[in-house]
Amino acid sequence: MEYTEKLHSLVQKKFDHTPLVNVQTFGCVQNENDSEKIRGILAKSGYAVSDSFENSDIVIFNTCAIRENAELKIFGNIGKLKALKSDNPDMIVAVCGCMVMQPHIVAKIKKSYPFVDIVFGVNSIEELPYIVYNWYVDNKRMVSDPVVKTDIVEDIPVYRQSKSKATISIMYGCDNFCSYCIVPYVRGRERSREPQNILKEFTQLVKEGYKDITLLGQNVDSYGKNLNPQIDFADLLNMLCQVPGDYVLHFMSSHPKDITRKVIDTIRDNPKISRQIHLPVQSGSNRILKLMNRRYTVEQYKDIINYAKEQIPDVGFSSDIIVGFPGETFEEYLETENLVKEINFTQLFTFIYSKRNGTKAAEMEDNTSHKEKSDRLNRLIKIQQDIFFKYLESFEGKTVRALVEETKPGGYSARMANTLVVHFKSDNENLSDTFVDLKITGKKGTVLTAELLNK
Ligand code: 5AD
Ligand code: SF4
Repeated sequence: MEYTEKLHSLVQKKFDHTPLVNVQTFGCVQNENDSEKIRGILAKSGYAVSDSFENSDIVIFNTCAIRENAELKIFGNIGKLKALKSDNPDMIVAVCGCMVMQPHIVAKIKKSYPFVDIVFGVNSIEELPYIVYNWYVDNKRMVSDPVVKTDIVEDIPVYRQSKSKATISIMYGCDNFCSYCIVPYVRGRERSREPQNILKEFTQLVKEGYKDITLLGQNVDSYGKNLNPQIDFADLLNMLCQVPGDYVLHFMSSHPKDITRKVIDTIRDNPKISRQIHLPVQSGSNRILKLMNRRYTVEQYKDIINYAKEQIPDVGFSSDIIVGFPGETFEEYLETENLVKEINFTQLFTFIYSKRNGTKAAEMEDNTSHKEKSDRLNRLIKIQQDIFFKYLESFEGKTVRALVEETKPGGYSARMANTLVVHFKSDNENLSDTFVDLKITGKKGTVLTAELLNK
């Protein structure tokens, strides 16, 4: 807080214009959420938020480490700033997020990207005014390994671009150590926010008119483990649903080993909770799941899905899948295909395994060629496409409720609680950020088309 004010008065003296900050986000919704805090804290320190890095006084790359191709893309983007920085040496270039929690990445930045001025860690957002202030005072490059911090800082200002959609982090870090995953190393141990702080943020958002709110955590089903008095994720959902208002509550991600029947019952009993559950399965082979350290079997996964389908008739599941995990045979891959066909996922995020240094899987023998792995990925994408089109067709003639997100020429684009996009035409005055009732008339590519019934 002290440095927010100090930076504010420093930039007022330093610039003859309102300085601009541009934050570029790579990776997941958690990173998007962090970027909103980065924008929020710098907006409070006297900056205006810009959508473009040109003319910006600070450019911040909030990075992702989940797969190698994410890192390569980020380095490509950072490289593009070299020319801009030589035209405008006063511009600050900062890199933060998951990628820079790895010492070999910081060493690479230090050596090969001399125009990067600042590196800061995943849980150091609240230090940003202090960091930027010191950069202006000392003008010394601050590129060193960030410390992994595990405390939870509340009340960081948030700059939200959307007026209807918002995310709330309910916990940070991960303790699962799935053998392929870098997240527990870069985001540290799992810790949950106090429920009353979450409730306060949630209530405020509902009051401000937010209609689509997503609770975020690497494994939301283990929410509350370190809290006293005891509370679990289902209790938290129940508590939040008591807040009066017109909204849809989503959460992500769930973990098949931790999601409970109590959570499913809570969704069943609270119409405000989305009927769409993201439950990453990763593989359809028990041997691979064991090597992945996922700690559930395909049978246990199907059990909880079947229970949910019994309890909540309109429930839908989306999932993440990795193909080409070290040692995955073609037969084991086919088990994944079979599972995908059996469950009928509404949406699938499919990835080729990417070796992450420092993880257990990085030490496993991997003899499958990249060509074979991408063939598996393409087969799976094709299967899911057919499932998805049938799923879209199943909505034809139905009446649905959707939140209007965007204005299109002569109409609107809206999103249903199950995340499907619906386009409809209307001459009505601005419907943006409101719920509408729609009658589905057909599909166009991957979106549904509809008629507006009423507002
Ligand atoms: N390689 C490929 N995909 C990965 N994921 C996590 N780590 C890796 C990796 N090393 C995928 C998982 C996870 C999603 C967020 O990213 O499917 O659920
Ligand atoms: Fe990674 Fe597994 Fe934690 Fe998800 S649950 S962040 S895949 S270690």
